[in-house]
Formats: sequence, C-alpha cells, structure tokens
Amino acid sequence: MRKVFDMLRLDGKVALITGARQGLGYDIACALAEAGATIVISSRNEESVKSVAKEISEAYGIKTYTVALDQKDYLSVQNAVDYVLKTTGRIDILVNNAGGGSGASEGYIVDRDPLAIKNMIDINLTGMLYCSKAVAKHMIDRGSGKIINLGSIAGVVGRDRAMYYKAKKMQQPIDYAAAKGGVISATRDLAGLLSPSGICVNSISPGGFDKGELSPEFVRLYSEETPLGRMGKIGEDIKGIALLLASDAGNYITGQNILVDGGFSIWK
Ligand SMILES: NC(=O)c1ccc[n+]([C@@H]2O[C@H](COP(=O)([O-])OP(=O)(O)OC[C@H]3O[C@@H](n4cnc5c(N)ncnc54)[C@H](OP(=O)(O)O)[C@@H]3O)[C@@H](O)[C@H]2O)c1
Repeated sequence: MRKVFDMLRLDGKVALITGARQGLGYDIACALAEAGATIVISSRNEESVKSVAKEISEAYGIKTYTVALDQKDYLSVQNAVDYVLKTTGRIDILVNNAGGGSGASEGYIVDRDPLAIKNMIDINLTGMLYCSKAVAKHMIDRGSGKIINLGSIAGVVGRDRAMYYKAKKMQQPIDYAAAKGGVISATRDLAGLLSPSGICVNSISPGGFDKGELSPEFVRLYSEETPLGRMGKIGEDIKGIALLLASDAGNYITGQNILVDGGFSIWK
C-alpha cells in the first residue's frame, strides 16, 4: 500500500503555472516545488519572473524554468507550450492561474467600457480554454495529467455590493463573475471529456485573499461575513488543495470545484 505522504510527492513531474509571479500562483508554485516538481512559471514579460524562478529553485532545490505567455493570444500560448515541451519533455500539471479581478477600469455595468468586458472574458475564460487546449493533446497522448483552474467565489455566489460600497471599494465588474462561472462550468465539462484519457480537471475557487492591498475597513467587513472570521491568508491557505489536486493523492477527484473561502459561501 502506498503511503499518503508519498502520494503527495511530485518528484519527476513538471508543472506549468501561469501568471505565478506573485499572489496565489506564486503560492501554488511554491507548494508544488516543495513536493519536488519541476516548475515552469509563465508571464507576459518573461524577464519579470526570472528572479522568482531563481528564488523558488534555491528555496526548494528543484529546477525551474520561465516562459513568455499571453493567454489572450492563442499563438503565444501554443508557442509557450511547445517551448516547455521541447525544454522539459513533458507537462504533467497545468495550473491555469493567470487572470484577475477588477483591473483599473470602471466596473459599474452602465458605465463600463465594452472593451473592458471583452478583455475580462478573454483573459479569465478564453485564456484558460486556450491553455487547456494547448496542453490537452500532450496529456491525451501520455494518458495522464492534471489541470487545475482558478475559479472564484464570484463565480459561485453573487457579491454583496453593500459591503463594497461601505468600504468605498470600486464597483466589481459582473463580467469577472461571468468569466469565473464559465471557468467552473468548463472545468466540469472538460473533466468529462478528458477522464477517459486519464486526465483530472478541477477548479479551485478562492474566496477573498488579503494580498496586503485592501483597506482595513474592507478586510473587517469581509471577515465579518466569513464564518471562519478572516480573509484567505497568502502563503498558506491555497497550498494544500493545490498540492492534493496536482498529486496522486487526488487521483480520484475530477470535475470538482473546491471552494477555499473560509465558509463564505455557506451563508449565501
Ligand atoms: N486574490 C484573490 O482574492 C482571488 C480570489 C478569487 C479568485 N482569484 C483568482 O486566482 C487567480 C490568481 O489571483 P491573484 O490575485 O493571485 O492574481 P494576481 O496577483 O493578480 O496575478 C495574476 C497573474 O495573471 C497574469 N496575467 C494577467 N493577464 C494575463 C494574460 N493576458 N496572459 C497571461 N497572464 C496574464 C499576470 O502575470 P504577468 O503580469 O506576469 O503577465 C499576473 O501575475 C486569478 O485567476 C484570480 O482571478 C483570486
């Protein structure tokens, strides 16, 4: 019988994590590196992730690579995946982390720039589909693989607008919720499609994580609405589930959306 801690090891595996310069993607990269995986970090500006890759390599004693990838552009994605396959020979784990919330533009739908709406969907939903398409053939040919998509609490429950208003936070665009809802549905359907090829596809939907840029008032209000009484902790709270889904310990989990939200969704 295999020991569970052995099943969580990722030695010999290669993980491509999109947009892992900081935030949740960085934490996931660290978690998979700690388990022994070779890590490939993508960025639209490859130079900007070189030092992060070096730091992770030194901290965990594993190999890291970087690659340029803009997931709004399919050719860029395909080139990045081809480069990774040529360089490392394999991609066992794809973490579709790149994406993002509100951006700098006005979120209120009446005033929102239609191009900002399209951009949001392109980055968060189409980008995830592009990356999954580009690695799928390789994973199908090998008969194994793990795809982990970053959804969001916003793709599961509606946002409490009063909370944002009280904290004087910018209006949150509904196209983000639409894109992340799409990521969660696509995860389920892709899991069904790829299961016969031995590929597991799951999404992680974080609740609000405090990356240090939120006002104390917003953190207080959000924490009050969260059963565990706090926002997600950078450096800790996303790592365990990412490792479970990436490793053999999660081999019987597919098509699921795992909420990492301190219980935020249970009162909604
Ligand atoms: N933070 C939260 O509270 C929270 C909550 C729920 C869900 N999420 C989701 O979790 C994921 C990570 O969140 P985060 O807050 O840690 O993200 P973040 O710090 O904003 O980083 C997102 C990364 O996405 C990359 N990116 C943006 N546009 C891209 C494009 N067109 N092509 C390729 N890469 C692109 C950026 O990389 P470069 O600038 O290096 O290209 C950036 O480093 C996102 O999908 C987010 O929607 C976050």
